[in-house]
Amino acid sequence: MLKLVIMSDLHIVPPGAVSNTLDTAARLEQAVARVNARHADADLCILAGDLADLGEAVAYERMRGLIAPLAPPVRLMLGNHDNRPVFLDIMGDGHSDENGFVQGVADIKGHRVIMLDSTEPGVVAGVLCQARLDWLAARLAEAADRPVIVVLHHHVAPLSLPVDAIGLRDPAALVAVLKTHPDIRAVIAGHVHLTTSAVWHGLPFVTLAGGHYSVGLKLPGDASEQALLEGPGQLAVVLADSDGCVVHFDNFIDRHLEIARENFRFSRRPDA
Ligand SMILES: [Fe+2]
Ligand SMILES: [Fe+2]
Repeated sequence: MLKLVIMSDLHIVPPGAVSNTLDTAARLEQAVARVNARHADADLCILAGDLADLGEAVAYERMRGLIAPLAPPVRLMLGNHDNRPVFLDIMGDGHSDENGFVQGVADIKGHRVIMLDSTEPGVVAGVLCQARLDWLAARLAEAADRPVIVVLHHHVAPLSLPVDAIGLRDPAALVAVLKTHPDIRAVIAGHVHLTTSAVWHGLPFVTLAGGHYSVGLKLPGDASEQALLEGPGQLAVVLADSDGCVVHFDNFIDRHLEIARENFRFSRRPDA
C-alpha cells in the first residue's frame, strides 16, 4: 500500500511575525508532530506550496528548520505566495527540473506521483505554460499503464466559490493532457484553504484545507460574507494500491473560531 502525506499552505512568516492573527510556524510544528506520531510510515511527504507567506529568504530558512524533524522523505512544491528564485537560492537547485520549474516525479510501489509547478512569477492564479504541459505529457507517457497521482498547488475543477477567480487558468488544457493517461487516481491541490471533492470531465479532484486559516462556503446567490476561520489545520493522507486510492483528511488542529474581519488581510507578495 502506497501512503502519501500531503501538507499545503504553510504560509511561514519571519520569526516574531504572525499571519492573519495566526502563528503559522507553531501550526507547522503541530503538523510535523502529527505526521511523526501517526504517519511516520508514509512513503513520501509532499508540501504542496504556499510554503512562505511572502516568499522571504528568512521564512524559507525558518521553514527548513521546522520540517527537518519530519520522519518521511520530503518533497517541496511552490504556490503563488512563494518566490521561486529566493526558494531555490535557499533550498538548492536540486528542487527544480531541467527547465527551472519546481516539479518532479516519484515512482513508488507501482504508482507514479507527479508534482507539478503551477506558479508563475507576478501571477496569483495558476499557470501551466506549454513547456510544463509538454513535460507532464512526457511523464504520463513514461508511466504507461501505472496508476498516477498528480499534486499541484492551484485547484483545477471550478468550485463555484470566490477563489475560482485565482484558480488554474485554462484548466481544460490540463484536463486534455491528463486524459492521455488511462488511470489518473487523484489530482490533489491546496490553495483554496478549504476541503473539497469534485469529479470534473471524468477526473477526480480534491483540495485540502492546509495549515493556515480556512474559509467558509460562499456559493452563488449567497449574499453573506464568507467566513474566515482559524482552522482546521489539515493535512491529507493518501492510501493507494492496485485497486484504488483513498484520500483522508487529518485535522491536526480542530479549532474553527472565526477571525474578525478587521484583523484579516489577504496577504499578497508585493510583486504578485
Ligand atoms: Fe495559501
Ligand atoms: Fe495559494
